[in-house]
Amino acid sequence: MVASSYILALETSCDETSAAVVTESGEVLSNVVSSQIEAHRATGGIVPEIASRLQLELIIPVVEQAMVEAKVQRESICKVAVTSGPGLIGPLLVGTQTAAALAYTLGVPLVPVNHLAGHVYACLYQHEFMFPYLALIVSGNHTELVRMDGHHSFEILGSTRDDAAGEAFDKVARLLGMEYPGGPQISAAATSGDASAYTFPRAMLNQDNLDFSFSGLKSAVRREVADRVITKQDRSNIAAAFQEAVVDILVEKTVRAAKLTNPTAVLLGGGVAANTLLRSRLCTATRTLGIPLQCSPLELATDNAAMIGVAAVFSDAVVSPFEIEVDPSRAIDVDAASKR
Ligand code: KG4
Ligand code: ZN
Repeated sequence: MVASSYILALETSCDETSAAVVTESGEVLSNVVSSQIEAHRATGGIVPEIASRLQLELIIPVVEQAMVEAKVQRESICKVAVTSGPGLIGPLLVGTQTAAALAYTLGVPLVPVNHLAGHVYACLYQHEFMFPYLALIVSGNHTELVRMDGHHSFEILGSTRDDAAGEAFDKVARLLGMEYPGGPQISAAATSGDASAYTFPRAMLNQDNLDFSFSGLKSAVRREVADRVITKQDRSNIAAAFQEAVVDILVEKTVRAAKLTNPTAVLLGGGVAANTLLRSRLCTATRTLGIPLQCSPLELATDNAAMIGVAAVFSDAVVSPFEIEVDPSRAIDVDAASKR
């Protein structure tokens, strides 16, 4: 008889279909991510209806692959965890209803997990816990500074008033004729660019709060590229100057929050945490403060189910398969029963 000790986790909040198997102590055994990027390139961004349909087609094969790669039998699953928000409603429904059906048929608890909490737990993967932490979550839809006082216990200190950092990367990339998603493209182009060739605004730095704004920066790039022919070198220079502005803003506000909250470590999670310049600048800035930086491992930075499984290890939240709800705009500070 095999011991029941594995968590099956599903993440379908946006355009990635992902399933993972994680041990009860939080070790990742498999983490299958099927991206819809190719499908959304044609439209330059995500069309929610298309994202939902692709989630439906992919979810069962992805779950199957995660189980095979982890070499785990169905009877060994002790919990099913799933992202219940925030995210796109259609894709979230596909994940939660699939997870509910799996939990029901396997006869195991169903654990709803906040997507943003997942990004935070990705930074804590295989670390000892030493609260409180300060987390900078930077993704395609969120830019938040969050204090974490215990498992699944969060307080939002600041957030974006308009576009998220990742959204700004994606929109500016589009203005520069680059493909979706924009973050990796901008960051690659910036390596051959001169960031001092342009000066873009750093909004809200002179305001005494921990909020962000990126829409003015995007508009400044739009004005710069309007009605003119952009050379390859121009494009690289604009990419570098834009990236420099985003990183300056994120690092400055995070340093301010760290001085106010005195955390044991600063955490950097979400898709934009894959950005090399942001990782290195934030590392230098936090080192100056004497506070360590814990970035999510690169393979856990963009959306994936392993981070949801790891977050579920430390959660006591359980919901009936007949009553699971999705919340497209769920905030990180309204969940969840914590464990330990
Ligand atoms: O967390 P994530 O995978 O999905 C959401 O929850 O939104 O984040 C996706 C975002 C996209 O906007 C993408 O352009 C951005 O992360 N991103 C990056 C990089 N890699 C992905 N942004 C900047 N630099 C990168 N290397
Ligand atoms: Zn995300």
